[in-house]
Parts: sequence; structure tokens; C-alpha cells
Amino acid sequence: AQGKGIVIAIDGPSGSGKSSTAKGVAKARELRYLDTGAMYRALTWWMLDNGVDVDDAAAVAANVERPVITMGTDPSAPTVAVDGRDVAAEIRGKDVTTNVSAVSAVPEARALLVRTQREIIEAARNESAGIVVEGRDITTVVAPQAPVKLFLTASAEARAQRRSKEVRTGDIAATQADLARRDMLDSSRSHSPLTQTADATELDTTGLNLDEVVALVVKLADEAGNG
Ligand code: DC
Repeated sequence: AQGKGIVIAIDGPSGSGKSSTAKGVAKARELRYLDTGAMYRALTWWMLDNGVDVDDAAAVAANVERPVITMGTDPSAPTVAVDGRDVAAEIRGKDVTTNVSAVSAVPEARALLVRTQREIIEAARNESAGIVVEGRDITTVVAPQAPVKLFLTASAEARAQRRSKEVRTGDIAATQADLARRDMLDSSRSHSPLTQTADATELDTTGLNLDEVVALVVKLADEAGNG
């Protein structure tokens, strides 16, 4: 709508470069930034911290409303808090990473977080030039009307290499196996699986560096903004 900020929706598997790309584009065009994966991770952290069996979908569903998850959308310093506690470090830990696919497969968890994500997007559109949102179901469920929709991909090797650098492990084979497991779970779940739609632009980032990918997306965004 007129006078409202743009939405740039980015989906893709783990390690495809979504987070770095989304932050880079948001900084380049002074947009807000939302990492929806961090929200699923924060919810998972709360479930584990409160002794909820994350493999029991009914137990997860019964508890989704209890934690208050707050996202800071400055791309230079994004924040994630649960009940006022900064959990940025905790949500990148092994426990959360291993269990986040189970929590994100629970429909009640998705419904709640999608609602919150849409509120954050609307607020950003009203208060700023717009927002870059990254995840697994942004182009398909959260913001299918977004004028810029991207599906980022990269070879399994490139994704494992990037993720190993992020988590500072030299064990690239183990990282690649872990990514493959999570991608399989995220793509095969029955509710809002990671899917590539025909109207999203596919961007294979395998041979590209971050600056190149950001430049490509900024160009698409500028074209959409003028079109
Ligand atoms: O992007 P990430 O690896 O931090 O995401 C963590 C998990 O959350 C991922 O395994 C799938 C899930 N997720 C999701 O189901 N839907 C989203 N929009 C974002 C993430």
C-alpha cells in the first residue's frame, strides 16, 4: 500500500547465507531486519529450560503462550529476549539447534509466531522504510504478498563450510550431516515446510561472496520499489 514500507521476504535452507544477506540488505537500505529462525530458537530454548518434552507436540502446544519473545529489529544489533532475558547466545547452542526442528513442526507454535511476525512486519512498514524478513515460510505463509521474494540456495558443501565458520568447528563433515538432518526435517514436516514457490526468485549463492549477493538483492529491491 502507498506510504508503507517495503517487505523483502527471504527463505532458504540453513547456511544458504540468508542471515548475512538479510542484514546486509537492511543496512544498505536502512530497513529493519527480522530473523524468524531466532524466534523458533527462543521458543525452543524456553521449552528446554522449563523441562517441556519437545518431542511431545501436545506438551509444546499447551505451553506456547507462556514465554514472551521480544525481537529487536536493528540490523546492526538485532536482539532476542525471552521474558526480558537476552538469550542471543543460548539460542545458538547445541541443545537448541538439535531440538528446534521438533518445536517448529508444532502447528500451535507456528500459528503464534507467525502472528507475532506479521505484527512486527506491520509495525516496521508503518514506522520505517520497511523490513527484511528471513526464514523458511516467509515467501509462502508469513508474507506471500511481499514485492520482493527470494529463495536462497547454495551447495551442501558451501553451506556446511559457512556454518562451520559460524560455530567455529573444524568438523565440516559433522556440520554437513547436521545440516542435512535439519533440512530434511524442515522440508518434510506437514505444516509450512520449507518450499520454493514459482514466484520467488532463486539465488544460488555458492560461487558468490556476501557483497555480491547483497548487491543483487538491493538491485531487486530498488527495482520493486520503483516499479
Ligand atoms: O534459520 P535457523 O537455522 O536459525 O532456524 C532454526 C530452525 O527454525 C530451523 O531448523 C527451522 C525453523 N524455522 C522455521 O520453521 N520457520 C521459519 N520461518 C524459520 C525457522
